[in-house]
Amino acid sequence: MILVVGGAGYIGSHVVKQLYKNGQDVIVFDNFKNGHREFAKWGKCFEGDLNDIHTLNQLFETNQINSVIHFAAYAYVNESVMDPQKYYLNNVMGSLNLLKAMLTHNVKEIVFSSTCATYGNPTYIPITECHIQKPINPYGWSKLMIEQVIKDYHHAYGLQYAILRYFNAAGADIEGEVGEWHEPETHLIPIILQVALEEKDSVQIFGTDYETPDGTCIRDYIHVMDLADAHIKAMNYIKGTQQSEVFNLGTGNGFSVNEVINTARSIIEKPIRVVESQRRPGDPAILIANSNKANNLLKWEPQYSDLRTIISSAWKWQQILSMK
Ligand code: UFG
Repeated sequence: MILVVGGAGYIGSHVVKQLYKNGQDVIVFDNFKNGHREFAKWGKCFEGDLNDIHTLNQLFETNQINSVIHFAAYAYVNESVMDPQKYYLNNVMGSLNLLKAMLTHNVKEIVFSSTCATYGNPTYIPITECHIQKPINPYGWSKLMIEQVIKDYHHAYGLQYAILRYFNAAGADIEGEVGEWHEPETHLIPIILQVALEEKDSVQIFGTDYETPDGTCIRDYIHVMDLADAHIKAMNYIKGTQQSEVFNLGTGNGFSVNEVINTARSIIEKPIRVVESQRRPGDPAILIANSNKANNLLKWEPQYSDLRTIISSAWKWQQILSMK
């Protein structure tokens, strides 16, 4: 059985759906602080918090778990700067507890959600896995710390791992069953769509004076279903090769904030009001992945990550969400 920790969240729920459809035995563990109960609809569900060691041990004692995919984390960069303790207690301590429970119960395979935020301000583009890791916020540090712990446990205890560093996760399940649902929402694409639905007045463009062709930040948007596919391939890779690796997950293409807004306008054909604002602290000008390693070793190729498919699927989902 595969344990998906944080399986009721945005990326986790897409992975759970795909695992379940592939016929895998899957169990979701979630505290439902940010996850959604209605997303935990495939396989088994076990409610609990990673900082509740008793529940965690019960989870492992009452289920035959062979491997773990670990998503559970707080992931607001800004909030992590304002309240780092929340991030270290949840993301670091929670992960340490999970790893301890795994080792105690002899579970030795983990796929861990990491982030391009562990790189900090890039010194070259596209970013490869061996780029120096120097986070510029506590969220990035919390992920980097657990990367290091996992690598040390690999050497000491034989834990096998795949560490996946996502770039900008975006889009939604093309069947519209799950999608991006953050409260509050801070991410660019859902905010654009909320403006199109007249749930918000305007999109703020955070900075128009970056050293990019149109002055706005450039990001590498990767469809959440492609991320889900990468997790399954990574899990199979660990099992098949007994190798532990780190992988970037992105498309290698970057789009500016303006390009994303204009693409959304052309798909939705509704007015999207924008307001030019100050830079948001902690935003690097350009983040683009080199994902050759995942392409080669995992045989992973994004299928849904052209910008129009990303925005169209997100638009379908946002309309469903607006009726909830
Ligand atoms: N942006 C705006 N206006 C908005 C929201 C975002 O202009 O209302 C801009 C941001 O400045 C950024 C781009 O749109 O340039 C994308 O921003 P998102 O908030 O959608 O995503 P981030 O790049 O900030 O965040 C993502 C992940 C984080 C991860 C981070 C690494 O969501 O978990 O990449 O930099 F830490």
